[in-house]
Amino acid sequence: MTEGVQTSPAFKPRVFSGIQPSGGLTLGNYLGALKRFADSQNNGVESIFCMVDLHAITNVLNDAQALRHNTRELCAGFIASGVDPEKSILFNQSQVPGHAELGWIFNCVARMGWMQRMTQWKDKAGKNTQNASLGLFAYPALMAADILLYHATHVPVGEDQKQHVELTRDIALKFNHDFGVDFFPIPEPVIEGTATRVMSLRDGSKKMSKSDPSDASRINLTDDADAIASKIRKAKTDPDALPSEAEGLEGRPEARNLVNIYAALNDQTQAQVLSEVGGKQFSEFKPMLAELAVAKLSPISGEMSRLMQNPDEIDAILRRGAERAREIADPIMKRTLDIVGMVR
Ligand code: TYM
Repeated sequence: MTEGVQTSPAFKPRVFSGIQPSGGLTLGNYLGALKRFADSQNNGVESIFCMVDLHAITNVLNDAQALRHNTRELCAGFIASGVDPEKSILFNQSQVPGHAELGWIFNCVARMGWMQRMTQWKDKAGKNTQNASLGLFAYPALMAADILLYHATHVPVGEDQKQHVELTRDIALKFNHDFGVDFFPIPEPVIEGTATRVMSLRDGSKKMSKSDPSDASRINLTDDADAIASKIRKAKTDPDALPSEAEGLEGRPEARNLVNIYAALNDQTQAQVLSEVGGKQFSEFKPMLAELAVAKLSPISGEMSRLMQNPDEIDAILRRGAERAREIADPIMKRTLDIVGMVR
């Protein structure tokens, strides 16, 4: 978080977050994002959640059928995880033209040097930056537009998105400074809980990710009970028993990861879990974790496949969400164009 800059009290609290419909939701997406969205929606703060389809095409552009399927499946994932489309606004990005429009303006605010420093750009583009899409490079400016188009003040995300939210703050500050206005809020990343960085089940130093070539490295929200239990049984661990205190997890990334997953799934703190399981061998702990994971995740995958039987219903939810999103975004976009000096 950029220290020392406060969100102006003039902005009412509003939550915004997004997930890419790039296929396959993982336990990382669930614990780092979806579950937290569902848990927070009763706190009375207006919340807007977006399937960021414009972001998804920065990687793969030429599979229209897959994009449509993934967008609907992601929407089903939100609802099955407990996000209520009446309480929160759920929609897909491309139905609100302001995202692309404000994204363009922010392309002209952000500096090349800022974008080049983004670790996700470096990871995703790899060595072959010349062949990466221009969209992938500009991606964080579009993400800033997603957030600021709604004057959102709080952005719940996993650890890996922190740098992008910090860039969003820099873009808001520069825009406000360049035009001498206090127009955009300076949003806060909200990175809380025990599962803000769920790690691979095969390698505790790597993030659990849908793009990992090994399916055994992750739990997918569509996995059935047998697959979940077998992946946990085969998860990498070390030979020692579990500790009773956090210090005992130092230098044991796989053990820490499994304890954190258990804690997040069971709404406990790491300390509570360790006080219960300290001294147990993994041969005893893994079946406990598998049972808990199946109990919590099976209803979600069941509900997702039920919802996917009715794509028309999902589309109607997204259309209605987009209408509500446009009601908030349109005046903010209009005012932005005025500030920039666009004649209308
Ligand atoms: P995406 O689609 O990669 O991931 C969606 C959310 O899931 C979290 N996440 C994880 N959390 C914990 N452990 C993991 N292993 C893990 N893997 C993923 C991510 O941190 C994220 O919160 N750029 C964003 C999407 C985006 C966005 C936005 C987010 C676009 N516009 C505006 C917030 C606000 C992304 O690619 O997330």
